Amino acid sequence: MKIGIDKMGFATSQYVLQMDDLANSRGADPEKFSKGLLLNALSIAPITDDIVTMGASAADSILTEDDKEAIDMVIVATESSVDQSKAAAIYVHSLLEIQPFARSVEMKEACYSATAALDYARLHVEKHPNSKVLVIASDIAKYGIESSGESTQGAGSIAMLISQSPRILELNDQTLAQTRDIMDFWRPNYSTTPYVNGRYSTTQYLDMLKSTWSEYQRRFDTSLADFSAFCFHLPFPKLALKGFNKIMDKSMPIDIQEKLKKNFESSILYSQQIGNIYTGSLFLGLLSLLENSQNLLAGDQIAFFSYGSGAVAEIFTGKLVEGFQNQLQPSRLGELKKRTVLSISDYEHLFFEEAQLDEEGNATFADYETGPFVLKEIREHQRIYGRKND
Ligand code: HMG
Repeated sequence: MKIGIDKMGFATSQYVLQMDDLANSRGADPEKFSKGLLLNALSIAPITDDIVTMGASAADSILTEDDKEAIDMVIVATESSVDQSKAAAIYVHSLLEIQPFARSVEMKEACYSATAALDYARLHVEKHPNSKVLVIASDIAKYGIESSGESTQGAGSIAMLISQSPRILELNDQTLAQTRDIMDFWRPNYSTTPYVNGRYSTTQYLDMLKSTWSEYQRRFDTSLADFSAFCFHLPFPKLALKGFNKIMDKSMPIDIQEKLKKNFESSILYSQQIGNIYTGSLFLGLLSLLENSQNLLAGDQIAFFSYGSGAVAEIFTGKLVEGFQNQLQPSRLGELKKRTVLSISDYEHLFFEEAQLDEEGNATFADYETGPFVLKEIREHQRIYGRKND
């Protein structure tokens, strides 16, 4: 049975921070960000737009009423949980009015968990061929004002509908994961921002890529020449470029190398305008590739490198399906230009605002711009979500 990604949706916040503004205010050379990190802008979410609202928006943009009847599992992959117990997937299930006989769970392993969710979804559909699984990767990457990671923040969600006879990408069975117990990036329960050994994290990312890819090729008797594109986890696009250069096989014919290079460039376009969306960023790369590449054809094989700090990495692959273009939107770069540009002081206030709870656990919020869903208030410690205009 062929199983894979049938539909893909995306949502980000309505506010944006330009990297040049950040550089100027922090006394850095703007080229450090535009050339050193390959980043132009970061999506900035206000307190009323979180992993639930953005995740629901991403899914709302692709689901039909028939899909909502067929979905029997909702997985939200995230490291930006809004609750230590209740799964964000339950809020999403409710906001989208998915039929009740469904399983809803949250999964975590830094930026890796959406890859594990995809595999769980694939195995579920293999056992229950008429099922559809909604996988949402939703995160807000927040390192702190004037922190070392401030230039690699971001916010956004990717929604993927997993089914048999998928219309975008068939997932192949060959996957290879690697686990290493390292402290490159982590966030203890008592901290709202992560601790990070930045340079060390980049060397671990590259080393996990090299060693996993080398073992993947050996185990499955394959090589880069078998692929039309390679998508990477995108904490910031320059690191993925370093990864791409590391795995490039210069002995391949020039036209194959050129196609891979062009497709790499297409895969980073959205990330350059949005920043890190943690577990969704690999799939944002896929969406950017599919909506901007001029040379992809049905039957083309795509390889994926997933990396989550801590660390778990995985390489998996998929094949583009006939007519995949019909399931996509034209490039979203124009849409991203519509976000409201924030001044530095507005960014510092809006991104780091915390709920001011009264003694009964109530809090209300200013009327910030969001997508179709919004965190309306906190009432007796309960998060109250709804459609923006309800
Ligand atoms: P930094 O200290 O801001 O920057 O840290 P830098 O000094 O390393 O410079 C960055 C690049 O800009 C360098 O390029 C400089 O040479 C260049 P490179 O040498 O690496 O090729 N540069 C310039 N280029 C042009 N003109 C100039 C100029 N000046 C310098 N004037 C760092 C950067 C990424 C370490 C920091 O932002 C950080 O700690 N970020 C967070 C951690 C991170 O993103 N790690 C990535 C790997 S771990 C991962 O992917 C997992 C993660 O997504 C989380 C999860 O799994 O949940 C993070």
